[in-house]
Amino acid sequence: MDNNNTIAGWVLAGGIAALGFSILSGKYFHADKNERPETMGYVIEGVESSDGGKEEMPMSMMLAKSDVAAGEAVFKKCIACHTINEGGANGIGPNLYNSLGKPHGNVAGFAYSDALSSVAGNWNFDNMNAWLISPRKYAPGTKMTFAGLSKPEDRANVIAYMNAQGSNLPFPEPPAEEAPAEGEAVAEAEADAAATEVAEETVAADEAAAAE
Ligand code: HEC
Repeated sequence: MDNNNTIAGWVLAGGIAALGFSILSGKYFHADKNERPETMGYVIEGVESSDGGKEEMPMSMMLAKSDVAAGEAVFKKCIACHTINEGGANGIGPNLYNSLGKPHGNVAGFAYSDALSSVAGNWNFDNMNAWLISPRKYAPGTKMTFAGLSKPEDRANVIAYMNAQGSNLPFPEPPAEEAPAEGEAVAEAEADAAATEVAEETVAADEAAAAE
């Protein structure tokens, strides 16, 4: 019986060593690191991301998960200054019906700042996101005295809601899910197998001990 326990003990130790080795090999071969480009996605000059440069999920992926009803709730932060119904009045800010896809500062009868009306191009999902991160940074000197929405999901939801009011542009295609690097999958499988082995051997050792 003693012998059996000794054997079970050695097998257990072997399993733990195998587990340790697969963790170490994962470290040495960088299998646990995603190889990503230095800069991600769409960068607009002069605009910083809300979280000081940490990686953020691309807006296309956020939009794919967005919720128009939640966006309507976020829009409550905007209604002090904006209407968004068709033909709605301009207030402190312009009416926002059908704004995505339109040039910056195009609503008739609203006196825009030069800062905003001189921005070239049309509103799209990316620059609307940048604007809502920080209007002040997007168009320095803008009249929109709103600090911005710091949560990416709030921005995605409110942009989805705004898009549903007249614009109805198709959402951008989210990038394909990254397949795990081969090394990573192997290291994980090895670690799993080693862990299972250890668990099985622990049971065997317990049974052997119980049999004594
Ligand atoms: C304190 C008032 C105020 C609040 C709150 C506010 N805005 Fe504005 N918004 C403005 C003003 C003023 C402008 C015009 C800016 C300019 O001319 O520089 C503007 C402009 C805009 C524009 C550009 C419209 C165009 O025709 O080009 C968008 C888009 C916009 N706001 C979205 C929002 C959203 C979304 C919210 C809520 C998350 C919001 N705003 C909250 C005052 C406000």
